Amino acid sequence: MMKDSQSFGDTPSEEFRKQLHELADWIADFREHIERLRVAPNDNPGVIRERLPRRGPEEGEPFEKILSDVDNIIVPGMVHWSHPMFLGYFGWTTTAPGILGEILTAPLNVNAMTWRTCPAATELETVVIDWLRQWVGLPDEFEGVIYDTASVGIMHALAVAREEVAPAARKLGLTDRNLPRLRIYTSDQAHSSAEKAAIALGVGEENVVRIASDDQFRIDVNSLGQQIAEDRRNGLQPMAVVATVGTTSTASVDPVRDIGNLCREAKIWLHIDAAYGGGFAMVPEYEWIRKGWELADSIVINPHKTVFVPLDFSVLYVRNFERLRRVFSLVPEYLRGDTVDAEKNYMDYGIQLGRRLRALKAWVIWRSLGRAGIVARLREQIRLANLLAGWIKKDDRFELSAQPGMGVVCFRFVAGIDDAAPGSPTPATKDQLDQLNSDIVERINTSGRAYLTQTRLRGRTVMRIGLGNVLTTEEHLRKGWNLITATADAARPKSQIPKPRRQTNSNWPSPRRSERD
Ligand SMILES: Cc1ncc(COP(=O)(O)O)c(C=O)c1O
Repeated sequence: MMKDSQSFGDTPSEEFRKQLHELADWIADFREHIERLRVAPNDNPGVIRERLPRRGPEEGEPFEKILSDVDNIIVPGMVHWSHPMFLGYFGWTTTAPGILGEILTAPLNVNAMTWRTCPAATELETVVIDWLRQWVGLPDEFEGVIYDTASVGIMHALAVAREEVAPAARKLGLTDRNLPRLRIYTSDQAHSSAEKAAIALGVGEENVVRIASDDQFRIDVNSLGQQIAEDRRNGLQPMAVVATVGTTSTASVDPVRDIGNLCREAKIWLHIDAAYGGGFAMVPEYEWIRKGWELADSIVINPHKTVFVPLDFSVLYVRNFERLRRVFSLVPEYLRGDTVDAEKNYMDYGIQLGRRLRALKAWVIWRSLGRAGIVARLREQIRLANLLAGWIKKDDRFELSAQPGMGVVCFRFVAGIDDAAPGSPTPATKDQLDQLNSDIVERINTSGRAYLTQTRLRGRTVMRIGLGNVLTTEEHLRKGWNLITATADAARPKSQIPKPRRQTNSNWPSPRRSERD
C-alpha cells in the first residue's frame, strides 16, 4: 500500500479520488505544455538508471513522491513521441481521446482470452475490427484479431502459410520429415519483421528472399516470378509472398494486384504488410492502394501507426479465418468450461492466452473522431508532406530522394562538400555526403528541438521525416525545415561543426504545475 504499509487492501477511496484528480491535472498539463520539453534527451546511456534505486522499495511510497520522480527523472529522460516537433519514424498517434481510452481501460483491467472471461471485450473486439475492415474497403471474407504489433501479426499469418505447404507442421514440427526448404519472398524495401517471423517459425531468415525493387521502391514482379520459378526448379518450396503497402523507408506501395495474380496462379500465400499504409486506404485519394487486396490471404494494419489508436494496436485480417484458428486453437483442460463454441474465443487465434482489452481504446478514439475526422487528419498529413516536398524541391542544396508517400518525405543534402557540383559528386564525395546527412540528423536530434530519422536508399544515407502527430502544424513543419537548412549550413565544411551542448529538460515540470505544487 502506498500510504499505509500495514494495510492489506487498496488505497482508501477518498485518497484514490484525490490522486486521480492530481493525475488528471498532470496529464492535461503534460499535453498542454509538451512543447516546452526537449523532444529528446542528450544524455549518456545509464544516466537515468543511476538516478533510480538499485533495489525495489521495502516500504510503500506515497503517490506524490512517485509522481514527482516521474517529473524529475522519467520525463526528462524520454524521447517525446507526442511532441509536435517529433518528426521521426511515422510521426505518432497520440490524441486526447486516445488518452481517455487508455485511462478508461486501466480500471477495467480484464482478460479478454475467451468470450466467457469477458463477453464485452470479445464482442467489442469483433465490432471494432469490422469497422476498420469496412473503412479500409477490405472484403467481408476477412475477419481479424488484435495483436500488439505487426511483427506478431506477420508471424501468425506466416504460421498459417507454413501449415498450407507443410501440413501438420503444427503437430509434427518441421524436422525429420524430409520437407523441402520453405521460402518467403519480399522486396528489398520490406520490413525486417518478415525475417523475424521466419526465425520464429523455423523457416530460417536466409529463406526470406529479398527481391530488388524498381526506381519507385516497388517490388519488381518479373524478378519475383523468376525467383519463384528458379526456386521450384531447385526443389525449394515457395511458402509466401509479403507485399508492402507503405514501406518503412519511403511509404512506397508494391503492385499488389500483379503480385496477387502471380500468387493465385502459383498457389502461394499472399500476406500484405499494410502496417503503415493500411490506414490511408480510408482516404478517397488513396483508394488506389487497395487494388489487389481482394487477392490476399492475410493483411496486417497498424492503427497505432495511422488510425490514431495509442500503441499498441495492430490488426491481422485473414481470409477464411478458421485457418488461423486451426493452427492455434488449443484449449487447456482448466479452460474447457470457459469456452463457448458459438462465440469467438480470441485466445484460439494466436499464441497469447491472456489478452489485454485493446478494443476499448480504439472504440473511444474512433467514436470521438468518426471516419470523417480520421480522414481529415490523414489528409492533413498528406498535405504537410507535399508542402515539405515542395520546399525541398525549391532549394537546390537539397534533393528529394523519393516521391513523398502518405506522410513520409525522404531527402538529402547535396551541397555539403566544397567543389562538388550537386548531383554529380565523385564516389568519395558521396560517402562524405552520407556522413554529412547523418551528422545533420544527429545534430538536430541532440539539439532537442526536433527529431527526425535517417535511412538508406539505393546505398545512400538520406534524411527522413514522418508526419502523423495531430499536434504538428504547418508552423511546426516550417520551424523544422528552417532548423534543417540552418543545421545543414552550419555542418559545412565538417571541420567547422561546433559540438552540440548537452542540455536537460529544464522546462519541466511546467511552471503551472510547479506553482500548484
Ligand atoms: C512496413 C512495416 N511493417 C511492419 C513494421 C513493424 O511494426 P510493429 O512495430 O508493429 O511490429 C513496421 C515498423 O515500423 C513497418 O514500417
